[in-house]
Amino acid sequence: MKKNQIYLDGQTALVTGASSGIGKATAIELGQARANVAVNYAGNSVGAEEAADIIIKNGGKAITVKGDVSKQDQVKSMFATTIKEFGTLDILVNNAGLQKDAPFLEMTLEDWNFVLDVNLTGQFLCAQEAVREFKRRGPRPEISASLGKIICMSSVHEIIPWAGHINYAASKGGVMLFMKSLAQELGPSKIRVNSIAPGAIKTPINTSAWHTPEAEEKLLKLIPYKRVGLTSDVGNVAVFLASDLSDYIHGETIFVDGGMSLYPGFEDGNG
Ligand code: NAI
Ligand code: BGC
Repeated sequence: MKKNQIYLDGQTALVTGASSGIGKATAIELGQARANVAVNYAGNSVGAEEAADIIIKNGGKAITVKGDVSKQDQVKSMFATTIKEFGTLDILVNNAGLQKDAPFLEMTLEDWNFVLDVNLTGQFLCAQEAVREFKRRGPRPEISASLGKIICMSSVHEIIPWAGHINYAASKGGVMLFMKSLAQELGPSKIRVNSIAPGAIKTPINTSAWHTPEAEEKLLKLIPYKRVGLTSDVGNVAVFLASDLSDYIHGETIFVDGGMSLYPGFEDGNG
């Protein structure tokens, strides 16, 4: 048992894109916090099954749910499966996301639409289903102070422009105002909406940025705290945002980036 463990007993979480990286770690951390977890995957189920097995071996409850977050029928079906299995939903972690990088003039319309569809439209479709369920179920103050919690996985690239990744940066900039507008609209219903903006976290999405010592050394120049992030760094913050300990945090982006968003190019003081 880890120090300062937060508990989410009686709550159910759905984590999208949880077959690898940040989503997988977040699903496992939520299970450790005793939430029931629906572990979403889009294609290959192996990673999602591993996450569910770990949760179950630790004494928790988990299922895997297949679904592409950019397809409304599949989103509806994965929410229906989750609610049928666990009775309701309390926490949505809108994590699924991807990159399809290209210099601007080489970026095809398909690359643009693909990234926007998954990273932004996927968050819209999943949040809509979550909010429908929160409102259908109504408050359970003995379980949680709010009606429900939505955690959007954004990125430091919601504020840091990123040449060669225009579709990705535009999607995360979109997530920022999607999250804030949703928080403004849903606050009166006591639904809490926040984002996590990770910096560089070691996952399959960015292997080329850290897999050799030379690449990692270059990456560390962008990180004042001088270490590349771990998936658990993000999972721990997701558990906090899902809990009543953060009940007055609403409409915020929490940067989990070792200081990447602090303009490290200015760190020698010679502006
Ligand atoms: P990853 O590639 O390990 O995980 C992405 C997950 O999303 C995979 O499980 C993948 O199957 C899933 N996915 C992709 N398309 C999907 C779809 N249509 N429907 C459902 N699931 C789908 O990468 P990582 O790093 O774990 O990424 C997770 C989130 O964190 C993404 O939103 C990413 O933009 C964000 N992020 C990652 C950072 C990093 O440095 N690793 C930094 C900032 C943000
Ligand atoms: C990207 C990663 C990148 C990180 C920091 C994330 O949003 O997905 O590829 O390493 O931002 O630039």
